[in-house]
Amino acid sequence: MSILPDLKERFRDALTGRADDVDELLDLIRRSGDPKFGDYQANFAMSLGKRTGRPPREVAAEVVERLDVADICRPPEIAGPGFINLRIRDDWLIARLSAAVTDSRLGVRQTPRPRTYVVDYSAPNVAKPMHVGHIRSTVIGDALCRMLRFLGHKVISDNHLGDWGTQFGMIIYGYKHFLDRSAYRASPVQELARLYKLVRRLMDYHEGRSQFPKLTEQVAQQADALQRNREEAGPRPDKKTAQTLRRQESSLAEARDELAELRQKLDAVKADPLLSRQVAEHSGIGAAVLAETARLHEGDEENLRLWREFLPACEDEIDRVYGRLNVTFDHTLGESFYQNRLAATVDGLVHEGIARESDGAICVFLDGQDVPMLIRKKDGAFLYATTDLATIRFRMEQFAPDAILYVVDHRQSLHFEHLFATARLMGYKDIELQHVSFGTVLGDDGRPFKTRSGDTVGLEGLLDEAVRRAGAIVAANDDAKLDGPEIPPEQRAEIAERVGIAALKYADLSQNRTSDYVFSYDKMLAMNGNTATYMQYAYARVRSIFRKGNVDIEALRASGAPIVLGSPAERALGLEILRLADVLELAVCDYRPNQLTAYLFDLANRYSAFFEQCPVLKAETGQLRQSRLLLCDLTARTICKGLELLGIDVVEKM
Ligand code: ARG
Repeated sequence: MSILPDLKERFRDALTGRADDVDELLDLIRRSGDPKFGDYQANFAMSLGKRTGRPPREVAAEVVERLDVADICRPPEIAGPGFINLRIRDDWLIARLSAAVTDSRLGVRQTPRPRTYVVDYSAPNVAKPMHVGHIRSTVIGDALCRMLRFLGHKVISDNHLGDWGTQFGMIIYGYKHFLDRSAYRASPVQELARLYKLVRRLMDYHEGRSQFPKLTEQVAQQADALQRNREEAGPRPDKKTAQTLRRQESSLAEARDELAELRQKLDAVKADPLLSRQVAEHSGIGAAVLAETARLHEGDEENLRLWREFLPACEDEIDRVYGRLNVTFDHTLGESFYQNRLAATVDGLVHEGIARESDGAICVFLDGQDVPMLIRKKDGAFLYATTDLATIRFRMEQFAPDAILYVVDHRQSLHFEHLFATARLMGYKDIELQHVSFGTVLGDDGRPFKTRSGDTVGLEGLLDEAVRRAGAIVAANDDAKLDGPEIPPEQRAEIAERVGIAALKYADLSQNRTSDYVFSYDKMLAMNGNTATYMQYAYARVRSIFRKGNVDIEALRASGAPIVLGSPAERALGLEILRLADVLELAVCDYRPNQLTAYLFDLANRYSAFFEQCPVLKAETGQLRQSRLLLCDLTARTICKGLELLGIDVVEKM
């Protein structure tokens, strides 16, 4: 049920003919921060006044004169320099809330302008274990799909799996040299993961060893430079010099740490007799892996057969994670799907004069970009970018979307800049191409989240740990109940799974997606604060009120019992419940699920205030009891719907 769009429409009528940027002015109608100034505020009179050289209050008065909102608001008030303060009428709020009581969409309308979206998300490089980084793309993409669909858009979700890259060269190499046959028979996935890790380690060793002298030299140079600068600056450097010195010191410290880390890694390999033999025997492993990958891409029979053999195991592995996360895709068209289209894509681009040869390679040169986009290497190999261009063409032909969203790590922003610019040259001009980028998940040391041993953290282990901790919380919470525990042990495990996964997802979704965030189990599972646990708990509390009061909530919904907004807390809660539609609009407009989590948190807080101030089961009159139960129910349903749109389940008890 929306408030803001209705208000905007009325203001549009009043503004038409008064300005040519009406939409921008309408964006200045907002919820007001302080109830003193009404529920909503229109703040455009100042800028309109400045432009026309007239006092803003006068402009505001004129707009109000033409404004027809009598059925929605009390008479608008003009305040301060020219704010228009709007207070929603209680009878209007009550009518909307009453309609929401029996509406499964809680009054949220479908968009009158449905669009077709392709959403490209998750897209792990299979054959490598999934890690914490994959959770962001997966849950943000899933939430966007859910919200867009709910608003009435057509959404095609596509998991653009990395199923054709170098990692296959790595496991093919591993398979040919290090396979443990019985382990492979027992669990192919585990054995492939072991092979991947082993080959990675050997490659890292050789890479690290070849870089070591250069890095050592660099650190020494940095140290020298710092020493010289210190001497030059003397004992009392000015502020700016001191700052520069500090920066150089910390960058030197960082470089030293890195070098020490590398030495440790190299030493660890050397200290292990088996590993040190393996690195010695496989000194050309880097080039050999590339050669295996190249053979696969050229259609070598054996490598292709191995690839076909490995792929199902890799897919089972990620499907298990998707199952636990409750994420599904309409399509899983991975990179391999596009392989037979790459040559034609490159030829087409050359033919159309978009790409040309340079130094034996084929490149797209883009205006304003220093480096061209490489689409075929000198040796004939195609690249990530080539596949993405073929993918765009396929999607345009197959789905004719209005928008393609790529939910991918911010480190790929240059790739997408190039890709989109090239797509425009290919003639895809009217479509919205959007890199929905996100930041990195950090550990408490502020560095990318790793295990103690320096490995990236496997996604499954992460889920398990969140569920384990959730289990402890659910048990403690249940044990502490005044009337004794109410959840049998088998149900506790099921609730723990929901609470744990929810916490993990919500922690991610509630961040501003473009920033990095620090991963913390304690924070994500906190019973208080902007967490899924808090939201699920708020929901479960409402449900427990119904159980305690023997309330047949379905019957009450159908009864047509009136809603009363007698106290400020009831009114504030009612107003908040009706904001769901506004918030969803906002969340999909710049693809930010955290708009929705922030709203749910506000809603849960308003509910707490209401619950403290307004007795529900013990309300003064029967009518008031019914009205308050309906407000509880609307709150619970809004939380449930909001969480559902984030891909998160509620629980009836916890
Ligand atoms: N597989 C890629 C990676 O892990 C992400 C793919 C994103 N989607 C795309 N169409 N490029 O980095």
